[in-house]
Amino acid sequence: MIRILVVDDEEPIRRLLKKELTRKGFSVEAASDGEGALGLIKESIFDVILLDIVMPGINGIGLMKKLHYDPSSPVIIVLTGKATVETAVEAMKHGAYDYLTKPYKLDELVIVINRAYEYGKLSMKTQLLQQELLRVESTSEFISNSPQMKSIMGLIRKIAPTDSAVLIQGESGTGKELVANTIWHNSGRNRTPLIALNCATLSENLIESEIFGHEKGSFTSAYQTKHGIVEVADKGTLFLDEIGEMPLGLQAKLLRFLDSGEFRRLGSNRTLNVDVRVLAATNKNLLERVKAGAFREDLYYRLNVINITIPPLRERREDISGLTSYFMDKYSRKLSKSVAGVSPDAIEALGRYDWPGNVRELENVIERAVILCDAGSISVEDLSIPALSFSPDVTGRQPSLEDMERDYILKVLNGARGNQSKASQILGIDRKTLYHKLKKYGIN
Ligand SMILES: Nc1ncnc2c1ncn2[C@@H]1O[C@H](COP(=O)(O)OP(=O)(O)OP(=O)(O)O)[C@@H](O)[C@H]1O
Ligand SMILES: [Mg+2]
Repeated sequence: MIRILVVDDEEPIRRLLKKELTRKGFSVEAASDGEGALGLIKESIFDVILLDIVMPGINGIGLMKKLHYDPSSPVIIVLTGKATVETAVEAMKHGAYDYLTKPYKLDELVIVINRAYEYGKLSMKTQLLQQELLRVESTSEFISNSPQMKSIMGLIRKIAPTDSAVLIQGESGTGKELVANTIWHNSGRNRTPLIALNCATLSENLIESEIFGHEKGSFTSAYQTKHGIVEVADKGTLFLDEIGEMPLGLQAKLLRFLDSGEFRRLGSNRTLNVDVRVLAATNKNLLERVKAGAFREDLYYRLNVINITIPPLRERREDISGLTSYFMDKYSRKLSKSVAGVSPDAIEALGRYDWPGNVRELENVIERAVILCDAGSISVEDLSIPALSFSPDVTGRQPSLEDMERDYILKVLNGARGNQSKASQILGIDRKTLYHKLKKYGIN
C-alpha cells in the first residue's frame, strides 16, 4: 500500500484528501504544517508527500529544503492554489517531482501519485547503486599491503572529504594519478567529474587559457570566448598534473586563484568566482625547484597543505604480490584468458627486481606475461625483466656477460636518475659508447 502524507494548513482540504485517497486504497496521514510533517516523517515511513506551499511556520519550500539530498526521503508532489504557480516552479527546482493546482481532479491526482511512487523506488535504487559503485571502485582498485601505502590510504580517507589542496609526489609510475582519483572518489565532490590538466604538454599561453579561459581576440588564435576548466570544474575538483612544469608567470595567477577562488579570463577585466578544489601532482622534487627559483615558494606552501609522497615500489616490496594478483586478474579478464597463478620462481624474480618504472612497469610486465603464458600459470620465462634479477640458482640458468652488462647499465642509469652523462662517467665509458650500448640493449 502506498503511504501518503498530506501537509496542508486548511482543515477541510486535509479531511477531503484523506477521505478520497483512503477510498482509492492509499494509506493517508495528515499534518497541518512543516513542523508537524517533520514529526510524522521521523516516526513513520511515507512514500509520497502531498505538499501545500503557503503555510505558517516551516512552509512547503522550507520543508523540502530540510528533506533534500536524502535518497530515502519521500517523493514530493506540490498541491498549490492558482496564485502560487511561481512558487510551485521554485518547488520543482528544490526537487519536487510534480505539482498540481487546487482544486485538483481526483483521477489525475491518483495517476500522479502512482507515477511518483514508481519514480521514488527507481531513484532510490539508482542512488544506492551509485553509492555502491563509488565505494567499490574506490576501494578495490587501490592496492595497499605495505605499511607505507596503508598509511597513505588512511590519510586519503581523512582528507578526501575536506576542501584542502593536496600535493602528490612520487617517482614516475608510482600511482599519483590513482591517488588523485581515489581522493576525488571519496570526496563529496564526486558527482561532478574530476577534471585533469597536464601542465607539461602546453605552452604558457595555452595552459593559461585552458585553466582560466580567454576572451575573443585576447591572442591571435582566440577566435571565440572560451570557458576555462576552472569554470567547468565549478563545485568540483581540478587535477593539475606535472605541476612542477607550470610556467612561473602562471604560478602567480594560480596562487591568487587558490587563495580567493577568483580569476580572470585571458584578455578580460571581469573577475569571476568559482568553488574548485585543487589536487596537484609532480614527479619532480618541488622543494629543489623552489631553491633553483623555478617554482614559487608561496605556491609550494599553498599546495603543500596536505602532502602525499608515494614511495617507489622497490621501497615497499610488500605491495608487489598484491599488485601482481590484481593486474593478473585485470588482464586475464580483459584478454579472456584463464591464468591460474604465478610460479614460485616467477614470484621470487618479481620480488627481487628493482622496478625503476614502478607500478606502471609491473603492470606492463604482468600484462605481457598474461599474453605470453600458455601453461596456465605465469613462469619466469614469461616475465620480461632484466636478466640479473633472475638468480641463477632459482632458474638454473647462468646470466651471460651481456645480460650482466645490460643489467649493470640499467642500475647505474637508474641511480643517475636517467642522466646519461653522469651514468657514462660512473661506467667509465664515453657518452657515445653508452649511447650505442643503450641502443643495442633496447633501453630507452
Ligand atoms: N596502489 C595501486 N593499486 C593498483 N594500481 C596501481 C597502484 N598504483 C599504481 N597503479 C596503477 O599503475 C599505473 C600507473 O599509475 P599512475 O598513472 O597513477 O602513476 P603516476 O605516478 O601518475 O605516473 P607518472 O608520473 O608517469 O604520471 C596505473 O595504471 C595505476 O592504475
Ligand atoms: Mg601521472
